[in-house]
Amino acid sequence: MELTKLFSSAKIGNVRIKNRIVRSATWLAGADELGYVTDDLIETYQKLGEGGIGLIISGYIGVHEHGSGNYRMTRLYNESYKVGQKKLISTIHDTSDSKIAAQIAHTGSNIIREGYELVGPSPIKVPRSIKLVRELSINEIKEIINAFIKTGTFAYECGYDMIQLHGAHGYLLSDFLSPYTNKRNDEYGGSVENRVKIIEDIYQGLRDKLGKEFPIIIKLNSHDNLKNGLTLEEGKEITKKVVALGLDAVEPSTGRTNPKYTENKSFPAVVTKNPEDENYFSQIARELKPLMNNCALILMGGIRNPLAAERFLDEEIADFISMSRPFIYEPDLVKRWENGNLDSAYCTSCNACFGTVLKGRIYCPIKHKQDKKSIKH
Ligand SMILES: Cc1cc2nc3c(=O)[nH]c(=O)nc-3n(C[C@H](O)[C@H](O)[C@H](O)COP(=O)(O)O)c2cc1C
Ligand code: SF4
Repeated sequence: MELTKLFSSAKIGNVRIKNRIVRSATWLAGADELGYVTDDLIETYQKLGEGGIGLIISGYIGVHEHGSGNYRMTRLYNESYKVGQKKLISTIHDTSDSKIAAQIAHTGSNIIREGYELVGPSPIKVPRSIKLVRELSINEIKEIINAFIKTGTFAYECGYDMIQLHGAHGYLLSDFLSPYTNKRNDEYGGSVENRVKIIEDIYQGLRDKLGKEFPIIIKLNSHDNLKNGLTLEEGKEITKKVVALGLDAVEPSTGRTNPKYTENKSFPAVVTKNPEDENYFSQIARELKPLMNNCALILMGGIRNPLAAERFLDEEIADFISMSRPFIYEPDLVKRWENGNLDSAYCTSCNACFGTVLKGRIYCPIKHKQDKKSIKH
């Protein structure tokens, strides 16, 4: 089987991407403590570009000081952050023909780092902890909407090829989508329409600033595995809504990165033990694809085998294939496939990379061990 589709170019909005392979947003804890881009992070992105990926989606970028509650995530909410971001983008554009999207986010109630206040649509108690989420006032919601628009505009000015809104994984925008976390009864809560309104306001604000041509895409929770949470039926309604708004691509996802919420039932980066568990989002994509009209569907979730990726494109379940963990292990995976070595990604989806965060930038300890062994021999 030839990888004809996987290595054919396609467009998201007006931006042509050289192949169908996307690096799904991956926070690498590679900024400095204040969220400024480091040379080490630039070098890591350069390797991803040189490795042949069509579209690299950045790790999430904080739109607000209070919404940057994870270790060494990049931030972009004032002019001072633009210098490093511009350097990162120009390095990628100068050294490869990969495109790059800025994923912009507010961490909301999904805070990993100490010292940040948990905020969200409603005063929910975070399960299995004593922490209470502080309900955002309407004025604060408007301030956050403006923060998204400002960061998106900065991303455009820095040279990013597109913007991805982070509407997944229990961060602020997805907390608005889920009835588990959103119990408001004003214009930002209640009906599906109202729960999507924050995304709609951000999108319209960005369109007004950036015009029709600049692609705006979204990573979107389609359900969250929470009792009384977001069901797939509602997720479908939300998908239809963002497609109708005019977003250029949707990357459906699920759950929360804080597994305490979901009692370990749902985590976007699933630990898989064998090839049968791979492609764990493809069934959902099959249900969502018919709702997409001309909006591209980016399929993520445990994809490791290039032949399976080709099949998903061929069967028109997806327009693009995205992966995260495989590129932590092998930044040059796409080149390897392109050069004819079609072994599945060497990443075993074990999630040991998450454990490296306290040592600095996230890396693959499995690969590290292997490299050390091969140096000894
Ligand atoms: C270390 C790490 C960091 C991640 N950071 C982000 C992020 O910043 N934004 C996001 O939307 N998803 C993030 N994810 C989730 C991935 O983008 C992806 O949805 C998930 O890992 C499933 O894809 P995979 O099986 O190819 O890894 C992260 C995943 C990992 C492993
Ligand atoms: S530690 Fe390495 S092999 Fe395990 S999931 Fe992370 S990148 Fe993949």
